[in-house]
Amino acid sequence: MNKNTITWIGKWTFILAAAGSAVGLGNIWGFPYKAGTNGGGAFVLIYLGCIFMIGLPIMMAEIIIGRSARKSPVNAMKNGAIESGASPKWQIVGWGGLLSGILILSFYSVLAGICLNYIGISAGASSAMSSVEEFSRATASATNLLFWHTVFISLNIFIIAYGVISGIERVINFMMPVLFILIIVMVLNAMINGDFMRGLSFMFAPDFSQVTPATFLSAMGQAFFSLSLGMGSIMCYGSYMPDDENIFKTSLTVAGLDTLIAIMAGLAIFPIIFAYGLDAASGPNLVFVSMLSAFSDMPFGNLLGPVFFILLSIAALSSSISLLEPSVAYFDEEKIVSRPVAAISLGFIAWLLGIGSLLSFNLWSDKTFIAGLDFLGSMDFITNQLLMPLGGMFVAIFAGWFLSTKIVVGELSEGQEKVFNIWKFFIKFVSPVLVAAVFINQLIPFFHNL
Ligand code: PFF
Repeated sequence: MNKNTITWIGKWTFILAAAGSAVGLGNIWGFPYKAGTNGGGAFVLIYLGCIFMIGLPIMMAEIIIGRSARKSPVNAMKNGAIESGASPKWQIVGWGGLLSGILILSFYSVLAGICLNYIGISAGASSAMSSVEEFSRATASATNLLFWHTVFISLNIFIIAYGVISGIERVINFMMPVLFILIIVMVLNAMINGDFMRGLSFMFAPDFSQVTPATFLSAMGQAFFSLSLGMGSIMCYGSYMPDDENIFKTSLTVAGLDTLIAIMAGLAIFPIIFAYGLDAASGPNLVFVSMLSAFSDMPFGNLLGPVFFILLSIAALSSSISLLEPSVAYFDEEKIVSRPVAAISLGFIAWLLGIGSLLSFNLWSDKTFIAGLDFLGSMDFITNQLLMPLGGMFVAIFAGWFLSTKIVVGELSEGQEKVFNIWKFFIKFVSPVLVAAVFINQLIPFFHNL
């Protein structure tokens, strides 16, 4: 099998693309409210620990496997295994990644579609309307959700069909700087219009009394999801990374940017929520109800609201293209169909599955699928709590115990013995054990609910 020769053109593209994948809806909703409700600074400290002990080593492993093979995740795992004298069956990990990518994309697109819809809704918001009613109106209509879901998936298909360089690289190089500027605008807005000090203390004042074993699990799960690990996105983007880029430094930068933006998202949201006396609720309500209500009362709210929802939409789009790319890359590389046809067909499957998730907001709101969860919740459960941790754990086990040292050393830049030794220790002993702990603990309540 020939290695693919496509590599990112820009020196910064890998960092921007991987950060684009990492920074998404999970950061902007998940991190702030989890930090706020799990002991503030105490959670942030535990989260940072997880990023460095689990996230960073697994991210490096994914890039090493991807870049050394220069293939899509399925073939990268297979090649790495064969060249290391291990079973080609390790490619199953790659297949699991492709599956989770499509499943996550299916519901991620529904949520991102609501963000797109909210760009217009917030532009026309007035203090006379109720943001709760506005949210019910937007989600009660399956046709409305279907329309925005279709728009969002089509954007993904379009970008990916254009290819790695003319599609993904071009769009990422434009979107990521815009995302950074918009988040800075939103933090400045929170400084001017919000109760910034209260927001700061909600997120950072460490309250160790609220730390329980569940806090560790929540921080670990969040770190994992936030860095897009365990499903091949980073491995796939790593396969396009030029040879002269330093894997350790770039991984550190991506993890740092992801954390920085998660913290900035909290600082953009909570000061506003407190200043307007709103509910620091978790989940969709935090942004679609509480934030909308704040924008409708804020000076220039009809301008700032759309800026906020454009920010969310961009963050979602730069993540979602990394969900679809690994499977399209596989179809393209195996010459099963051309890239555009692969993007359309795989995007169509995600679109179809997404219909189940959008019905969870209306016609199927009473229907439960897995462990008492609605369709969207079930998809989230299968991917977030089963496939991703399993994928990440097996990547760690493979890289730590099976992948040949020659391959690893060839990928880490010269003179990086110290980096190699520390990485090897973490990937072999620390990361897989910690991920297994999260995995098992997340499953315990599941079995209780069955
Ligand atoms: N990291 C994204 C977020 O925090 O929203 C979600 C995600 C994207 C997970 C891509 C996995 C992935 F492959």
